[in-house]
Amino acid sequence: MRELERLAAERAREAVKYDKLGMKEDALTNYKEAIKLLLKLMKFVDDPVMKKVYEEKVKQYKERLEALLEKSVESSTSSSKSRERESYLIVDPPPIKWEDIIGLEEAKKAIRESIVYPSLRPEFFPLGWPRGILFFGPPGCGKTMLAAAAANEIDAVFMQVDASMIMSKWLGESEKNIAAIFEDARRYEREGRPVIILIDEVDSLTAYRENEVGGEARARNQLLKEMDGLQDKGRIPRIYVIAATNKPWILDDPFIRRFQKRIYIPLPDYEARLNMFKHYTKRLDLEDDVDFRELARMTEGYSGADIYNISMEAQLRVVSEFFEKGGRDRPRKIGMRDFYEIIKKTNPSIETDSLKKILEWARKFSSA
Ligand SMILES: Nc1ncnc2c1ncn2[C@@H]1O[C@H](COP(=O)(O)OP(=O)(O)OP(=O)(O)O)[C@@H](O)[C@H]1O
Ligand SMILES: [Mg+2]
Repeated sequence: MRELERLAAERAREAVKYDKLGMKEDALTNYKEAIKLLLKLMKFVDDPVMKKVYEEKVKQYKERLEALLEKSVESSTSSSKSRERESYLIVDPPPIKWEDIIGLEEAKKAIRESIVYPSLRPEFFPLGWPRGILFFGPPGCGKTMLAAAAANEIDAVFMQVDASMIMSKWLGESEKNIAAIFEDARRYEREGRPVIILIDEVDSLTAYRENEVGGEARARNQLLKEMDGLQDKGRIPRIYVIAATNKPWILDDPFIRRFQKRIYIPLPDYEARLNMFKHYTKRLDLEDDVDFRELARMTEGYSGADIYNISMEAQLRVVSEFFEKGGRDRPRKIGMRDFYEIIKKTNPSIETDSLKKILEWARKFSSA
């Protein structure tokens, strides 16, 4: 599989090279070959991020292929802009409010202090504010939700970046992608809106990953440089960098130093799990025997995303049963037995080993 990826990348590089040189025939052959290999590769990968990257590449090469075939003489440089853009999304944040996030009171407070208040009244912060915030903790516990809620509260442009995507060899030089992100952020900020950059899976900038070609040091250094640059020239722009990771122990010292606020986003405790079950089953039709306290007790070690999935599974169960039985009247109510069976079948999505490592790191490096 790695061999396949290497071959595909090689074809793609050749294609682009010939394309730039105007050698159409050679470019065409190589694009076709690259597409073929990528499609094959897509059948093998499990990693959804890489799958998306391959898919995106196939689309891009196909478009280029068609353009070449149509003899359109569009210059190859015009595509470089879109290449930079595809590594992140600039979106309005998903419509998440603070109230939607269950538990995590300390994290919410830390974010209000380091993002919301400085953004509302920068003049009260002559000494500045933390440039970087690190969210670390097990997957599915609200990191993305928190960043989105903050963005909504201050009406920020929300740039969600996947670090492993940036590192992918398919997007060209990773440090240029990072530079482009900050360049865009500065432009948005000058135009009057604060910007929140959420870098997911930030550990992949420092760690060795199978899909890398060795640009990790340069990408990481570029990120650190950009973050240092946020503070100069008197005025501090309202650009907030939030980095998220499930593997904080991989991060190195210079990196950690830039993220002065390090916030642990833990698994939900009993109280939070109780409220999550109540929240996510609010619109479901439940039997009287459903005991939320028992559900919360049974799901120690499960993440918010796990609990959401369990609730969803319960819904799915009664609805498919309803259709299988002919689909008359309405689905039966969901009972405690359904939950017992579903929970028995679902394991918490975090392994105890990684959780231990995260906790150890939290003891040493937590700041909030
Ligand atoms: N604290 C929470 N309150 C309410 N729902 C939650 C909470 N944490 C997680 N969820 C549920 O889990 C889903 C995933 O949460 P989110 O995307 O914020 O996790 P994450 O920490 O960013 O995970 P990852 O590390 O995988 O990116 C949410 O869409 C929501 O349904
Ligand atoms: Mg997330």
